[in-house]
Formats: sequence, C-alpha cells, structure tokens
Amino acid sequence: MARSTHSRSSDSPRDAIALLKQDHKMVSALFEEFAKADEEEQSAIAQRVCQLLTVHATIEEELLYPTAKQAFEDDENEDLVNEAEVEHGSAKELIAKIEGMASDDSHFKATVTVLGEYIKHHVKEEENELFPQLRKTELDLKDLGARLADRKFALMEQMGIEEQEAPQRKRTAARGASRSKSNNRRSGSRARH
Ligand SMILES: [Fe+2]
Ligand SMILES: [Fe+2]
Repeated sequence: MARSTHSRSSDSPRDAIALLKQDHKMVSALFEEFAKADEEEQSAIAQRVCQLLTVHATIEEELLYPTAKQAFEDDENEDLVNEAEVEHGSAKELIAKIEGMASDDSHFKATVTVLGEYIKHHVKEEENELFPQLRKTELDLKDLGARLADRKFALMEQMGIEEQEAPQRKRTAARGASRSKSNNRRSGSRARH
C-alpha cells in the first residue's frame, strides 16, 4: 500500500513504539473522558474506545508480537509477549461484551470501567517492560512503525472509523453553553495533542 495514507494523520513516519504509545495515550484519554461524561455521551465514547482498541490490538497481534518474538533471543522476553497475547484475549472478551450491551444496561458503565482498568495494567506492562526490551534488539523500529501505520489506517478504513479527533469535535459542537466549562477543559486536552 502507498505510504500516502500517512498524510492523513500525525502518526507517521515514526517508530513503532512512538506510534503505539500515542494509541495508548489516546485510549487512556477516552477512558478518562468516559468517567466524566453523562450517560448520553458515554455510549459514543465507549463505542469509540472499543473500535480504537480493536484496531490497536489487531496491529499488535498481527505485526508487533510476532516480530518481537522473532527478535527476542531469550525465553523471558518471549514470555512478556505471550502474557500480552493472553491479556489481549481477555480485553477482547470485555470489548465484545460492551459492544453487545445496551448503554442503559445496569452493568454498562462498570464493564467499560473494568476494561479501562485492565487496559491501564496492560499498557503499563507494554510500556515499562516489553517496549524497553524491544529497543535493545536489532529490530528496525521505523520500518515496523511504517507497517503498523499502514495496517492501522487500512483497518480504520475497513471499519469506517473517522479521523481520530473527529467524534470529539462533533460532541463538543453539539453541547450547549451550560457545558462550556467542560468544553474548555476538553478543548485544552485536544490542543495539546
Ligand atoms: Fe497490547
Ligand atoms: Fe498496546
């Protein structure tokens, strides 16, 4: 696929770890937003989180984890990847549960919150253990980053997911003046991005 897809986002070209960390940051911000949102907004935020996590998990499973296993020369680091793969399995079960749940289900908020806690734990392990070990290998992280970005945008297109910031803008625009305080806070977080 042509590299032209990269121009649609600030994601690339960059190394694999920077790209994945940016995904982590975005998902973590959405979980925080979910916790503060009203019921009406929560459904859209949860759907967005599930979609982004599905894309992120897929590119890690298809490209990062197999490449990491090949690059690692010892069992201990391979175990880190195996644990990550098992954690993805559990996260995907929660995602499927949320996607099949009505937003007025009494367990909807709790299930999204549990997913958020689970992802937080998983991200911590990737960023504090797996990624530093990857940096020590001979792996070409720029090349892997380009492949991750290509796959990410192909999946986003396939799933009909818009540019990353678009839904937040739409929600903000739809809000009334009475919510201006929280709008400002969220605008501020977007500006930093
Ligand atoms: Fe992961
Ligand atoms: Fe990740």
